[in-house]
Amino acid sequence: MTHDLAADRAAVRAFFGERAARWDTRFPDDGPAFAAAVDDIGLRPGDAVLDAGCGTGRALPALRAVVGPGGTVLGADLTPAMLEEVARAGRRDAADALFLADVSQLPLRDGCLDAVFGAGLISHLPGPESGLRELARVVRPQGSLALFHPVGRAALAARQGKQITSDDIRAEPRLRALLATTGWRLLSYVDEDERYLALAEREAR
Ligand SMILES: C[S@@+](CC[C@H](N)C(=O)[O-])C[C@H]1O[C@@H](n2cnc3c(N)ncnc32)[C@H](O)[C@@H]1O
Repeated sequence: MTHDLAADRAAVRAFFGERAARWDTRFPDDGPAFAAAVDDIGLRPGDAVLDAGCGTGRALPALRAVVGPGGTVLGADLTPAMLEEVARAGRRDAADALFLADVSQLPLRDGCLDAVFGAGLISHLPGPESGLRELARVVRPQGSLALFHPVGRAALAARQGKQITSDDIRAEPRLRALLATTGWRLLSYVDEDERYLALAEREAR
């Protein structure tokens, strides 16, 4: 499938730009779920990690806590208004750098990261293959990818007044196949009411 990249990016910015200022007030109790998911990645002090589609930076303090002051925490998002909220929420100091970028085109060197954390990201990518392939490019072999949401697919669909469908990209069979073609191997998959977490490992090059 081909995409009009500029139109796709504009649509994401319009959608999330309009929601940015209210983002943190909608689900103020998600902090512990983010921290628990970050703990499950297996990051170590000194590691370098990217929060892909970081939004208002809800994961940044937990990522900093696990990699420590000697580690590197980066945040990337396509929506300027979301990045502006990071500072307003008092999370700017948790990151070494924040950049305005599409995760399918990152200004990072090959293999420079130990892990990528992406919360609520994958279903918003118009071209998930190119996004996941680019994330694989910037992560070292055996590095980690965590695709997270503080609620599972069924609970999220119910919240949005929708039904989950079998062609949902976050469904295990689809996600496993997609990861396998983009440089990742799915290691574990949890889709429960209070957590969606898929953990994958970067394949050797
Ligand atoms: C559902 S929000 C989640 C934000 C944050 N991770 C959280 O959990 O609070 C999705 C975020 O992904 C960003 N996003 C969507 N597509 C993107 C892309 N291609 N590259 C970078 N960021 C993207 C949006 O701007 C938005 O901030």
